Order: sequence, then structure tokens, then C-alpha cells
Amino acid sequence: MRVAVLISSRGSNMQALVRACEAEGFPAEIVTVLSNNPDAGGLEFAASHNIPTKVINHRDYENREDFDAAISEYLTEQRVDLICLAGFMRLLTAEFVNKWRDRIVNIHPSLLPAFKGLHVHERAIESGARFTGCTVHYVRPEMDDGPIIAQAAVPILQDDTPDDLAARILVQEHRIYPLALKLIAERRVKVHGSVAKIIDASEPDTSLINPSEDN
Ligand code: GRF
Repeated sequence: MRVAVLISSRGSNMQALVRACEAEGFPAEIVTVLSNNPDAGGLEFAASHNIPTKVINHRDYENREDFDAAISEYLTEQRVDLICLAGFMRLLTAEFVNKWRDRIVNIHPSLLPAFKGLHVHERAIESGARFTGCTVHYVRPEMDDGPIIAQAAVPILQDDTPDDLAARILVQEHRIYPLALKLIAERRVKVHGSVAKIIDASEPDTSLINPSEDN
């Protein structure tokens, strides 16, 4: 499976995906890392791992439609099967998302459908919830919406700052994004309406990752 990873800044999730794909026998290959931001730190990492990088700067386009069309054209040229959004900070048009329906996934640092949008960690702490986490999901035109592929939960501790919580969640992001990619590349994720089901998944036992990492 030919994968494009879209980033806007440091790209630590992209790095986790690259490392996973480098493992012997992993069923996906990252064929390009694309950024809207020419200064994204992650570009250097990708280049150092011999992955072609591309910058399509949104500032060079008059509107969202033209920017998205340029991305779509590039990804089509690269014969990309799956797009992984990894800290890509541009909203994509419904046209783009529908064109790539079920071939575009995102990672979000909360247990969706809770805490969509921005300032997620502050809002999770302020809510008084005891747990939050992260979610890999198929992308739909509405922000942070779409069938859930994998989630991991982490506790919110009493004295957590947003940065503490972000760091605890990030560790889990780096586990579930490669897991989700593997399941998709193995063609084991089937979308039924708003729900994604995993074929032959081992049920989570005491693990806070669903589906379990044994997959
Ligand atoms: C991650 O927390 C991800 O969940 C969110 O943006 C952040 C990107 O971090 N969508 P990185 O660039 O992958 O390090």
C-alpha cells in the first residue's frame, strides 16, 4: 500500500509511521511526506530516511479549493493509495475529502467523539474527566469526524498541565497510528456506515488500546 503522510510541523507521528514501515514485512510503504509549511521540522527527518518530500504551500494559492486540488493532483501522480494526516493543520474541503473517501485517515489527541477541534488538552483537563486519549479515524468532511479505527486511553492526573497530558497522549499516538496503518494495509478495516470494524481482531483484555496491539 502506497502511503502519503501530510504534516505541518514536527511530524513525530510521521516519524512513528516511517519507522513502522521500515520494519521487515510491514504491509505499507511511505512514498511521500508532504507539508504545507516549508519550515516543517519533519521534512528533514523524512529526507534523511530517503523518503521523497514535497512542499505545497497554502500561501501560494488563492483559495482552499485550488490548494486542495494541487495536493490531490500531486497525490494522484504519486499513485497514493492512502493519505495519513499527521498534524496537518489545514482544513480540507469536502470535495477533497469525498474524493479520497475511506482512503484518508487522521490522528486526533482525544477519545473522539469527545473534544473535537483545538485546545484539546486544556479542554480535557477543564472538563474534569478522568480519562482521555487518542483516536485514529477515517476522515469525513466535518472536522474530527469519521469511523474510528483505533483508540488508546490515558488517565488525566490531578496536577496535569496541558503539556503533561499532551506528552502522555503522544506516546500512545505513536503506538496506535502504526497499528491502524497496519490493519488498513492488511485490508482488515471495513467501514459500515459510521462504524469501522476490524476483521479478526483480538478483543482488548486489560489493554487500553482497542483493537489490542496483538493485531
Ligand atoms: C498530534 O498530537 C496529533 O494528534 C495532532 O497534532 C499533533 C501532531 O504532532 N493532530 P506531530 O507533528 O505528529 O508531532
